[in-house]
Amino acid sequence: MTAPVPTSACVAVRTPAKINLCLGVGAPRSDGYHPLATVYQAIGVYDDLRARPAAPGRFTIRVDGDDAGLVPEDDSNLAVRAARLLAAQYAVDEGVSLHVRKTIPVAGGMAGGSSDAAAALLACARLWGLDVSRDELVSLAASLGSDVPFCLVGGTATGSGRGEEVSSLPADGAYTWVVATVDGGLSTPAVYAEFDRLSALDAGAPTETTTGTPGVPDALLTALRDGDPQLLGPALSNDLQPAALSLRPDLVTTLEVGDAAGALGSVVSGSGPTTLFLAADERHGEQISSRLLAAGACRSARQAAGPVAGAQVRA
Ligand code: C5P
Repeated sequence: MTAPVPTSACVAVRTPAKINLCLGVGAPRSDGYHPLATVYQAIGVYDDLRARPAAPGRFTIRVDGDDAGLVPEDDSNLAVRAARLLAAQYAVDEGVSLHVRKTIPVAGGMAGGSSDAAAALLACARLWGLDVSRDELVSLAASLGSDVPFCLVGGTATGSGRGEEVSSLPADGAYTWVVATVDGGLSTPAVYAEFDRLSALDAGAPTETTTGTPGVPDALLTALRDGDPQLLGPALSNDLQPAALSLRPDLVTTLEVGDAAGALGSVVSGSGPTTLFLAADERHGEQISSRLLAAGACRSARQAAGPVAGAQVRA
């Protein structure tokens, strides 16, 4: 990414949603974050970001697509913060005009905002002709949010620390996911706060979850090594799921309908409220989607393949 692009140019980046195949959460650290042991997977639900040159110091964003009205179009937008951070870090005296077309659910537990930030880093680095490697962008990404590094790495990867320490897994399998969205989002901090509340209630019976030492289950790693959806389904797990269901009890029905439709496994995505169902193949995925929609158990149900690459500049 060394050659500067002409000032009239536009850089387009396609960036994926993430899901967590497992999400082990420990007791909060002194900085308030929770230690995580997770396996991320990037799946084929995408936002598209375009970056165009703007006058020095001018950083703007426009968002359209699904639920765009819920996304801030000011300096609080994580993609704008990413662009400003990159400019400051590399002493770039340029601005940028960003445009995001969303299909990743907003506040859905799929790292939509984080993925847009990852895309902004990549797009601006290209737009400004910076000599910066993807690894350097990954390091910078960690200061923007726990999920941002993974959105650049993509594929299937473990996440530790608060989620920002990412290590790719050599997973061969290809999976068909059904992604079910519902009306309204969930605030990630609110779900973690509910996790803390439920953990305190449960403190009489310490578990791995409450001792602060989460781990990635062996069954999940074995399933991924074998690339076997039949093994992966029952190995899906999410320590935030009880908290998400406590805040959104309607999701219990969504999960039940997907399970009754024969999903190989089901889980709340990250902090929710999006839910995920693993299908054996596309035909099976269509059956699960139809049953979810017919039962009124979700707003939308779409299929997505995983794993896919992290944020990529489009030709
Ligand atoms: O890292 P990020 O800014 O995306 O996190 C959003 C919020 O989610 C944090 O402010 C915190 O409340 C919660 N969080 C957490 N532990 C993590 C990741 C996120 O408590 N490992």
